[in-house]
Amino acid sequence: VSKKLLLLPGDGIGPEAMAEVRKIIAYMNAELESGFELDEGLVGGSAYDAHGLAISEADMAKALASDAVLFGAVGGPKWDSVPYDLRPEAGLLRLRKDMELFANLRPAICYPALADSSSLKKEIVEGLDILIVRELTGGVYFGEPKEIRDLGNGQKRGIDTQVYDTYEIERISGVAFELARTRGNKVTSMEKRNVMKSGVLWNEVVTATHKAKYADVTLEHMLADAGGMQLVRWPKQFDVIVTDNLFGDMLSDIAAMLTGSLGMLPSASLGAPDARTGSRKALYEPVHGSAPDIAGTGAANPIAMIASFAMCLRYSFNMVVEADRLEAAIAGVLDDGIRTADIMSEGKTRVGTTEMGDAILAK
Ligand code: NAI
Ligand code: MG
Repeated sequence: VSKKLLLLPGDGIGPEAMAEVRKIIAYMNAELESGFELDEGLVGGSAYDAHGLAISEADMAKALASDAVLFGAVGGPKWDSVPYDLRPEAGLLRLRKDMELFANLRPAICYPALADSSSLKKEIVEGLDILIVRELTGGVYFGEPKEIRDLGNGQKRGIDTQVYDTYEIERISGVAFELARTRGNKVTSMEKRNVMKSGVLWNEVVTATHKAKYADVTLEHMLADAGGMQLVRWPKQFDVIVTDNLFGDMLSDIAAMLTGSLGMLPSASLGAPDARTGSRKALYEPVHGSAPDIAGTGAANPIAMIASFAMCLRYSFNMVVEADRLEAAIAGVLDDGIRTADIMSEGKTRVGTTEMGDAILAK
């Protein structure tokens, strides 16, 4: 099996966090003969400085030819005034679009060592392990018409259109059911069928997909607003949550706050399996941005980036044992009381980015 990895470190703390993943890959290649082939490119502000584009055609081609892309973060005040189409985020949007990454996976895991520092009660978050599967390429963020219409009477109308087709709901729910089989075997589908036609269709298609191919998985439906409430009230009732682009954006941010710092949160974005090889395009990135306020200080928490690589091992290369070991190493280092500044609490040992990476590698 080929294991072509493209690293796109990006801007700000992106390269600092990526350096820690690079150490882990070097170890895996040298000691475990994992056989990763590494290539590297520019994205975001750093690509704009070099090529005048948020990602060059050559790097786009590399991304499309790779088995997985590891993405750091993009953006920063330096590029705040570049033209809209060339802004750093355009690089990420182009990657998502051209790689057709329709499934966004956002785990919310509460590491035992951090259960005390959550803003919620310990019994609510301790042992939490849920996965939100958000549809990423459809829905109200992309549906047409999308415009601000001048009504000519001094009024304007802002229009966004929520559109979902059967195939889009089938493929995102298929991803959710398949992932559930590798975890707690339960899927909760969230929509607003009480007020939205797209919600009625969503509910019907998820139900039909379940019946046809995934009847062994427990399926539950919940209205998305009630789902938001339940996420805060008793999040451990969930295993996999599948929902649309807009609700998924909000619900995954809510779930993120159950677990603490942005510096801890990984994500994956997956495309459709290739009909011939069965492999899917995939991009892995931390949820956080380029953190210009701490970039260059060596204080960034690399765990979100390292945990994103663990997702890459799990979902792109089926290296389940290695992914489990890497995640256990993160948990173990936290158990040892080692903390970057963003997750620091009383009595713990404060370290920087490289020390955190070294500690995880040593574990
Ligand atoms: P941010 O996620 O970069 O930072 C928010 C806060 O969290 C900051 O105080 C930062 O220091 C802290 N933080 C974030 N990651 C951390 C880590 N790994 N370790 C320790 N502390 C961490 O979001 P912000 O400030 O809204 O945006 C900064 C820049 O990043 C902007 O240019 C924005 O457009 C871009 N951005 C890029 C994203 C991406 O590349 N996917 C996502 C979000 C923002
Ligand atoms: Mg969001």
